[in-house]
Order: sequence, then C-alpha cells, then structure tokens
Amino acid sequence: PTVAVVFGGRSSEHGVSCATAGGVLGAIDRTRWNVVAVGITDQGRWVPVSAAAEQWLLRDGALPHVAHDERTVLPPRDAAERTWRVLGADGSVEPLADVDVVFPLLHGPFGEDGTIQGALELVDVRYVGAGVLASAIGMDKQYMKTALRGAGLPVTPDVVLQPGESADARRAELEGLGLPVFVKPARAGSSMGITKVTDWSALDTALAAAVKHDPKVLIERAVVGREIETAVLSTPDGIVASPAGEIVTRGDHDFYDFDAKYFDEAAVDLRCPTELPDDVATVVSDIAVRAFRAVGAESLARVDVFVGEDGTVTVNEINTMPGFTSTSMYPRMWAAAGLAYPALVEALLQGALA
Ligand code: DAL
Ligand code: MG
Repeated sequence: PTVAVVFGGRSSEHGVSCATAGGVLGAIDRTRWNVVAVGITDQGRWVPVSAAAEQWLLRDGALPHVAHDERTVLPPRDAAERTWRVLGADGSVEPLADVDVVFPLLHGPFGEDGTIQGALELVDVRYVGAGVLASAIGMDKQYMKTALRGAGLPVTPDVVLQPGESADARRAELEGLGLPVFVKPARAGSSMGITKVTDWSALDTALAAAVKHDPKVLIERAVVGREIETAVLSTPDGIVASPAGEIVTRGDHDFYDFDAKYFDEAAVDLRCPTELPDDVATVVSDIAVRAFRAVGAESLARVDVFVGEDGTVTVNEINTMPGFTSTSMYPRMWAAAGLAYPALVEALLQGALA
C-alpha cells in the first residue's frame, strides 16, 4: 500500500511537524509501504518533497521547514478517486501516487484541529489519528477542558478571555485564581506563547505574547506537581495506556517551554518510565484513557497530567497528534513498554487501514 506523509503546515509548530515527519519517515517499513511525502509550506501550499528521513531531522539546532515550490500537490477532489497529482508550474499535471492512507503529522491549527481531517473525510481518504471533532476539541483548550470537566475529570480552574475581551473587566475573577497563573493561547502547541505569571503586573505582557498566537486566551491557575505524560493508543484489543513518563525541567527554564522542548537537551530529563506509587500510576492511566474517550479521540493521543505531592492528579491537556520524533515522549513511552518505534508506526498505519 501507499502512505502519504503530510507535514509542515501553517501553524507556528511548522518546524516541529517537519521534525516529527523526519522521525516517522525513518520508521516506516519501506519493504511494506510505498511512501510519498507531501509538505505544506507555512503559506499553506501543498508541495511534493523528499521522503528521505534525513532531510527532515533537527540539525545544528535548527528546525527543518518546507521550502516553497512552484509545483502543487493535488489530493483527489472526489470520493471515487484515489490518485494524487502534481500540478507543475507550466500547468502540466502528473500522477503522484494512488494513496491508501494519509499520516497527517501536523501539529497546531490547520492540521491538528480537524481541518485536514475534514478535507480527507470529504474525499473518503483514510488517515491516522483522531477525527474531525476530537481533533477540534483537542486543539482548543477552552473546549478541551469543557469536555474533560463534563466527563468528571479533574482540570485546573481558569478564566477564558474571548477575542478582544479586556482582562480589566475580569480582574476579580482572575485574582481569584491565585498566583502563579499560566497564560496560554487557546489554540497553539509546543508551549508557544505561554508565560508563567508570578505577579499581576506581568499579566499584560503575558497576554500580548499569547495573543500573537491566538486572539482567545486562557489564564489557568498553576498546578504544583510532577509533570507526568501518558501515551494512549487504540489497538484491536481496546484503548491502552503506556506506563507513565515524566518531564523534569531544570536550569533557567521556568517550565517545559519551547526551547526546553526542542533545543536545550540539558534542560530536561525525560524519564520513561518513571516511578510512581502503584495506586497513583493506576489513577494516571485510568484518567488518561478516560480523557481519550472524553474528547472522542481515535488512534493515538498523549495525555499530560500533574501529580501533586498528595497524589492528586489534575489533567493538563490532551494532544491528538503528539510530538513524534524518535526522542519525543510519545514513541519513547511505547518503546519503554516494549513497542519499538517502527512497530508503533506500523500499528498506527494498520489501524487506519482497518
Ligand atoms: N504539540 C507538541 C508537538 C506536542 O504535544 O508534543
Ligand atoms: Mg498541546
């Protein structure tokens, strides 16, 4: 069969998506799969790109990106058709491949948010990952928390500022959250635009940083606790949770921010698996599976929680297309559980074809 790996995209996580693709392209079994790679530029143009994994690895401290190309990839426009084509600058149209399944390795808006999932549903192309609704809910932290709360899952209190809404009018509610708070763009990822605020005088600067990514902003009470992540996978035997992993942030990073995630290896210690008391580990994996179901996820997701000193578990968020480089938490947690990266990728592709 043929898989089209689609990555890059218009979100601020464009480069992270390319690095994720570098990992996955290297892990797909080429004796079983014909692989075509489709890059989406940061302007939103779909272009044919190299399917060689080495092209997309993080190199010299820089994230890769999809370069502009005069050619455009044309996915099928009709549910009866499977052929993807390339439109040349001269107007010529060449077939690219008959695609059986798409692996949309996109993070952030215009990819992890239900948009590409909807486009693929319209033309009846199978794909790895969550569907339209779960992707959309998972991308929007306001509605993600609404869904989690609705399922009885513990989340931290927050105030949502809708586009254009002033913080001044909500001052009493905000102060009621208590410091410190995290200020987050509602629809972004990889910690972009997130600031930890320890003094209300810093709120305006934090809001300005968040608004660069999304006019809708969440202000959340910070949770004191260990940062624990669980990889969730849908298998023919049901939804399963990996043993918990942990992120220990060090040095001058206030939290697991963008630089700590991708550029400062010394800043973080990723423990896979991590030590948790048995009863807490059970609660964490139970909550991870419940969160997966609460948003209606499919295929895969990473559920991030905080575990307080008294063992209290609070859900931070669910990511329906988690970072997927070979050093990312999602594949590492499965590798620690005995499911190696190539076998995980194969399971996801098979799951989409089933
Ligand atoms: N948004 C990043 C890629 C993650 O959740 O891992
Ligand atoms: Mg996220």
